[in-house]
Amino acid sequence: MGVVLGIESSCDETAVALVGTDRTILAQRIASQDAEHAPYGGVVPEIAARAHAERLAPMIEDVLREGGMELTQLDAIAATAGPGLIGGVMVGLVSAKALAMASGVPLLAINHLEGHALSPRLADASLDFPYALLLVSGGHCQILRVEGVGQYRRLATTIDDALGEAFDKSAKLLGLGYPGGPAVERLALQGDPSAVPLPRPLVGSKEPHFSFAGLKSAVMRAKESGQYADADIAASFQQAAIDCIIDRLRRALDTMAPVPALVVAGGVAANKAIRGALEALAQDYGMRFTAPPLALCTDNAAMIAWAGIERLPLGQNDPLDFRALPRWPLDPDAEPARGAGVKA
Ligand code: KG4
Ligand code: ZN
Repeated sequence: MGVVLGIESSCDETAVALVGTDRTILAQRIASQDAEHAPYGGVVPEIAARAHAERLAPMIEDVLREGGMELTQLDAIAATAGPGLIGGVMVGLVSAKALAMASGVPLLAINHLEGHALSPRLADASLDFPYALLLVSGGHCQILRVEGVGQYRRLATTIDDALGEAFDKSAKLLGLGYPGGPAVERLALQGDPSAVPLPRPLVGSKEPHFSFAGLKSAVMRAKESGQYADADIAASFQQAAIDCIIDRLRRALDTMAPVPALVVAGGVAANKAIRGALEALAQDYGMRFTAPPLALCTDNAAMIAWAGIERLPLGQNDPLDFRALPRWPLDPDAEPARGAGVKA
């Protein structure tokens, strides 16, 4: 069995994992920085980079020890090389380069989004290409047709905020703290999803793109009006988000060449209400629905090691001067979405 070391540091999770080619996770560590960023209501890049720099090396030592592996026994060292907050990405990538140089083991520079996109195949050996993927995280909101390793067709992206970002901003408006997604989901359980009239941006439009900025502003107005209970706002926001996702996915599925499976990945995939709606949609389309376990949905290093394992047969060995990339689209040929800002 081959073994790959994975390193993830693109946002606010410092993570290291050892994964076997037989899909076993031999050892892993994840250090969250929620406490450091909570006072600011969002991730502060400088604080994130410093925290990665402090924590990463001891975590790598721990994981190698627990997995009973020497560096030289590894098949590859895989590190996120983008997209993400560049300071943090550089910490992880430079560490991986140093280890690769010292051990002579190949370096694999991994696209964080590819980590999310292939993570369902780590959890589920029976998931074959192609599949339709809804990738929803704090930084990304895309619909992709995953056709193979390195082969992605992007059908949709967000023209403003990512879905996780909309959850986080709405949570902040409701005074729920950071990260907001889980807190909004919990509060929504006690609210009425039809209590607050909120918009469904871009629903019905031809291209399957997303937009959440208007929804967030409407949440702000609802809160400021003082007319609604916070739980009702949370439930109505979540319902509006679900309605947007389902409409946009229907549009994408209706236009792409048919695929047997619908897959959700990224941090927002932890949301049970969203998972339920996706499951119903898949059933409607006669598709199989699959989502990785929650620990593989939010940022982690096992998915980075796994993407490395998927790339082993390609014989990839990235150069030690590989550049960390703040932006790195999975599908460079995708048409930019009208109104799109900096989102890949
Ligand atoms: O994939 P991830 O860990 O990091 C990024 O690459 O962005 O995703 C984090 C995002 C955050 O915006 C967080 O609020 C959201 O995922 N999230 C959720 C839930 N759990 C995490 N959003 C909605 N419901 C949840 N249960
Ligand atoms: Zn992520």
